[in-house]
Amino acid sequence: MPGVYAVGVVDWDRRLFEDLMPIHQGTSYNAYLIKGSEKTALVDTVDPAKKDEFFSNLKKVGVERLDYIISNHTEQDHSGCIPDVLSAYPGAKVVTNTKCKELLMDHLHLSEDVFVVIQDEESLSLGDKTLVFKLAPWVHWPETMFTYLVEDKILFTCDFLGSHLATSELFAVEEERVYIGAKSYYAEIMMPFRDHVKRHLEKIEKLPLAYIAPSHGPVYHKPEFILQAYRDWSSDEVKNRAVLACVSMHDSTALMSEYLVEALVNRGITVDRFNLTYTELTNLSMALVDAATILLGTPTMLVGPHPFALSAAYLINVLRPKARLLGLYGSYGWGSRVVDIINQNLRLPQAKTLEPVLIKGLPRKEDFQKLDNLAEEVKRHHQEWGLLA
Ligand code: FEO
Repeated sequence: MPGVYAVGVVDWDRRLFEDLMPIHQGTSYNAYLIKGSEKTALVDTVDPAKKDEFFSNLKKVGVERLDYIISNHTEQDHSGCIPDVLSAYPGAKVVTNTKCKELLMDHLHLSEDVFVVIQDEESLSLGDKTLVFKLAPWVHWPETMFTYLVEDKILFTCDFLGSHLATSELFAVEEERVYIGAKSYYAEIMMPFRDHVKRHLEKIEKLPLAYIAPSHGPVYHKPEFILQAYRDWSSDEVKNRAVLACVSMHDSTALMSEYLVEALVNRGITVDRFNLTYTELTNLSMALVDAATILLGTPTMLVGPHPFALSAAYLINVLRPKARLLGLYGSYGWGSRVVDIINQNLRLPQAKTLEPVLIKGLPRKEDFQKLDNLAEEVKRHHQEWGLLA
């Protein structure tokens, strides 16, 4: 696209995001330079760890003068190099909304006089190119916004619609890899804000779009690819799948898990089972995007849940998946407060909670019957929702 340059950096080696979520395919921090006939603007910057590569990319493009730094989001993987850019181009102004300005001042200690504050739908002329700003709060911070380049029909969405994928391809041509990178990104970053995602998708649908240029992963040259994926993930529709997240200490809960997997599969339900001792949280998070049912299996440790199960419960609670059924099962030694503690930490407002199956010691015949009843109840609901024939 004449006058628009990708100046971001691919982070091939990054394997953990926010010191929590594994990312299998690396990631990128995208920034874009837009040269208009009169003014030049930079859309976002990159993670400070990649500052040198970023400035090298700016040099390759040849930026003699920079008028504006558009900041779509405060988080430092996009804003972290703004102070360095301001030092390199002292005349540049940071263009953003009121909330983002406030947060950038907190997080980067920028001074008030470097800002130009814009309102929703306000435009900024670069001469023969026009930017229009679209406030898009809560995908995923309160200050997030999009920038639309009118003449070239490019929407810069920052985190929204992004993917964790390191690739030398500028565009999303490797669709299978991009889909996985985008789904994991959605699960971990956007899913808690599903209602806002839906609202912003509706807003985007009205725009003529040639490209969607996020700040992680490749540029979408076929915007419908990612828009349709986001419509699916954020919709209220669930799939005939049960996520079974479990951990065991002395095999009693493991035996229950094995039995429950089979009981569900025999009833026509697809199961995604995760041993919480070994599983990567990214895989669990991705499975939560579509599942109709979530079942948590835990032994009792010092009267409470196993710490890994409690951690999973907390994670599920904050990610707020759209599942409609929640269940709990496990074994205890002499007494247990597992049900109370899990209930305090895992509440999905739209989900019905099934009767927990907590048993003492090694499961007996009647305990397996309780698991059959649990599986039958899951099946009954899936049937009622039209997920099963
Ligand atoms: Fe990619 Fe919210 O930062």
